[in-house]
Amino acid sequence: MKQVSITGVGGYVPPHRLTNKDLEGMVDTNDAWIVKRTGIRERRILREKDKAVSYIGIESVRELLRSHSVDPESIDLIICGTNTPDMLFPPTAIAVARATGLTRATGFDIQAACPSFLNALVLARQAIQSGGHRRVIVLGIDKMSAIVDYQDRTTCILFGDGGGAVLVEEAQNGLGIQDSLIGVDAEGYDYLGISGGGSMNPTTLDTVHKRMHYIYQEGKVVFKHAVKRMCEAAQILMERNGLCIADIDWLIPHQANLRIIQALQRYLRFPKEKTLVNINKYGNTSAGTIPICLWEFQHRLKKGDQIMMISFGGGFTWAGVLARWAI
Ligand code: UT7
Repeated sequence: MKQVSITGVGGYVPPHRLTNKDLEGMVDTNDAWIVKRTGIRERRILREKDKAVSYIGIESVRELLRSHSVDPESIDLIICGTNTPDMLFPPTAIAVARATGLTRATGFDIQAACPSFLNALVLARQAIQSGGHRRVIVLGIDKMSAIVDYQDRTTCILFGDGGGAVLVEEAQNGLGIQDSLIGVDAEGYDYLGISGGGSMNPTTLDTVHKRMHYIYQEGKVVFKHAVKRMCEAAQILMERNGLCIADIDWLIPHQANLRIIQALQRYLRFPKEKTLVNINKYGNTSAGTIPICLWEFQHRLKKGDQIMMISFGGGFTWAGVLARWAI
């Protein structure tokens, strides 16, 4: 089997900050409740009406290409993990490829709720291992402000905009992705999603009036399953690779709620100092959370470090990737 690695990272979060104080003026909430229940203090919002999620992807890819001196024409595939595509189709991946000069790349989107980035990464690895592709860009980007109901205090406090891009290619140094898993529990299908605008409930005045184009979530149910499945995923990955907690240098969990991350640390007995957390600054950017962590904390990751990325989201879906950092 070919060894496949992440060999470059780029990212983007919009400059505009939506603070808990700002939200106090929009819904019946308060900073103390939000911080205590979620750990979130502010999130970034892509405010300009003419900028879609592809803008986050384009900025991320441009930074990736620039900072790692990558020739855009050397990229032969771009996979965009997102839940907020520019349009239902064509794929957002194509918009990003066109704007960043990836003239030789084919591309498509993956929509798998919050684990979309890890799902895309797993596919990229398989595409390279199969020999079908050589240099792949994987995106995890979301503009959650486009689908959040700013009249619903149970969801609008959680989400933000942002994301990142990674370059994935064959490794020459024995480092890279060692193992991955993706899981699903279809019993979770009804607890988190958007019911309007798809082929089940096409857009009508009625779906708009009923606010069916916004995210709904049964938070408590999702919370419980998130902890259970993320723990299980981490344990399976470690067990089948003969690793224990002491062998993991960095846990990079999906950033949905600080209490979920703390529960993971508690159940796995995983040290806080080795867990990458930035939910306080960005909230839940869905497909964006893990690539934003890789981008923001890349100076902390050293070549050879053992990392474990775990995500969970609507569906229910979850995914985990175990890798030795290769940059
Ligand atoms: O990324 C995808 C995966 N998503 C997740 O993993 C999210 C999982 N869920 C969660 O993070 C949490 O369930 C929430 C943050 C969404 C909610 O936290 P919670 O501790 O489960 O709160 P709750 O829904 O049980 O609400 C507790 C109380 C309720 O009032 P009563 O019924 O006790 O009087 C809510 O009405 O807090 C109230 N409440 C709020 N109060 C102030 C709910 N939202 C707010 C708010 N501000 N924004």
